[in-house]
Amino acid sequence: AEWNRDLRYRPYNEWPASQVAGLRRQVQASPWRLHYHIQPTTGLLNDPNGFSFFNGRWQLFYQAFPFGPVHGLKSWVRMSSTDLIHWENDGEAVIPDTPYDAQGAYSGSALPLADQLFLMYTGNVRNGSWQRHAYQVGAWMDQTGRVEKLAKPLIQAPPAGFTDEFRDPQLTLADDGRFRVLLGGQTRAKQGMPLIYEGETLSDLHFRGTLRTGIEGRSGYMIECPNLVTVDGHPTFIFCPQGMAQSVAAYDNIFPNMVITAAGVDWETLTLQAPRTPANLDEGFDVYASQAFTAPDGRTLLSSWIGLPDVTAPDSRDGWANCLSLVKELHYRDGQLYQYPVAETKRLRGEARPLHIASGTDSFIGTGDHYELALHADADTPLTLTIAGVRVTLDTTTGQVLVDRSRAGVPFATDWGTTRRFTLPAHQPVTLNAFVDTSVMELYFNNGQKVCTVRFFPQTPTDTLQLNTAAPEAVHATLYPLTA
Ligand code: FRU
Repeated sequence: AEWNRDLRYRPYNEWPASQVAGLRRQVQASPWRLHYHIQPTTGLLNDPNGFSFFNGRWQLFYQAFPFGPVHGLKSWVRMSSTDLIHWENDGEAVIPDTPYDAQGAYSGSALPLADQLFLMYTGNVRNGSWQRHAYQVGAWMDQTGRVEKLAKPLIQAPPAGFTDEFRDPQLTLADDGRFRVLLGGQTRAKQGMPLIYEGETLSDLHFRGTLRTGIEGRSGYMIECPNLVTVDGHPTFIFCPQGMAQSVAAYDNIFPNMVITAAGVDWETLTLQAPRTPANLDEGFDVYASQAFTAPDGRTLLSSWIGLPDVTAPDSRDGWANCLSLVKELHYRDGQLYQYPVAETKRLRGEARPLHIASGTDSFIGTGDHYELALHADADTPLTLTIAGVRVTLDTTTGQVLVDRSRAGVPFATDWGTTRRFTLPAHQPVTLNAFVDTSVMELYFNNGQKVCTVRFFPQTPTDTLQLNTAAPEAVHATLYPLTA
């Protein structure tokens, strides 16, 4: 059947159980299912939501459309974990079933308050002529996982001068004990803007103004999923500008996920102090809508959607779409943002297999398709690595990295190019930790100085990796099978 609007927005309680059961069988037969990434059981996954620590467990929800691998009527599915690497699926947590979220329980965040978890999200509502109205709504989740929505929205409408492209609240508790909400918005003149609300209580949130980030008037027509966190003392603004000019910051993906680091925040004037120019959060093809929060243990953690708006990948042929990234810990070192999978990720490692690099071109068979490759190359040692047809060319003389997925199985998203290029420090040793999982790989260079995420859809199962270098003695590599 065609995924027309009626089908996409059909209320959850009108779907027969056979729809999900049928999809589940299709999904189970997919050769591209993942071994240690969060993936939808059926249908589509998009943004991470409500990332938090509550009731002794990590809580990480995601945007879901469980009835097909397409964007439709969105809900929140809850995942929870004690270690950030093994996740339990706790099922549907927020279903779009009130007049304030009837066309979608859109993205949002979570804040533990007393013995409950408060969820704040965007209620997407469409009228008869399909015009959007955005409410910012709230719900309490208790320790048993029961969710009770507030009777009335927290924010009824966008502020004067802004459109109903108004969503993705990041709710935090400010140092002075006030509630603060950061939201993505759009001016009537179609400029993307981050908006700030504050309140003494959740029921008196009021608009304070727009957050000045240094790119006012140059951030495109919309900002989605804004997050402001502090990373080792540095305010870090993570956001998704849509329609931003390439002259502001270069990017290759249909929509980028970007980051601006600053020296401080002036909360009187709502200004990021000494903001850097925006940079891509991820150098690869597939990261969007990342959500960060600072955990009670002091770590600032990040989860990303691996998938992009308006992009369809081959997994959808099998009744599912997209996944979440590994949980990344953020740090600020040598004036740069670093992202690296949390230390717990090492516990997924099986027995180490050292790869003996002997000649110019080595093929290693029996790798399986889900593992971590840990590689070190001395300075000035060019090398090429090929994993499942994804070719990584590393020039450690100039520091140039080229990632090419043009020969990696079923092509998709080719309108946005099949290669990505970025730079590491020249004439320096390089480390690469490649987390490979059947149809996704997360490549971390120099312990997270640069990250490059790549989806790929092999036509035949992957069991080999190739390494090519003129200086075999200068390259060291170890392979660890990874399983959750
Ligand atoms: C980003 C986004 C958000 C929105 C959600 C809806 O991918 O468009 O802005 O809240 O997805 O699923």
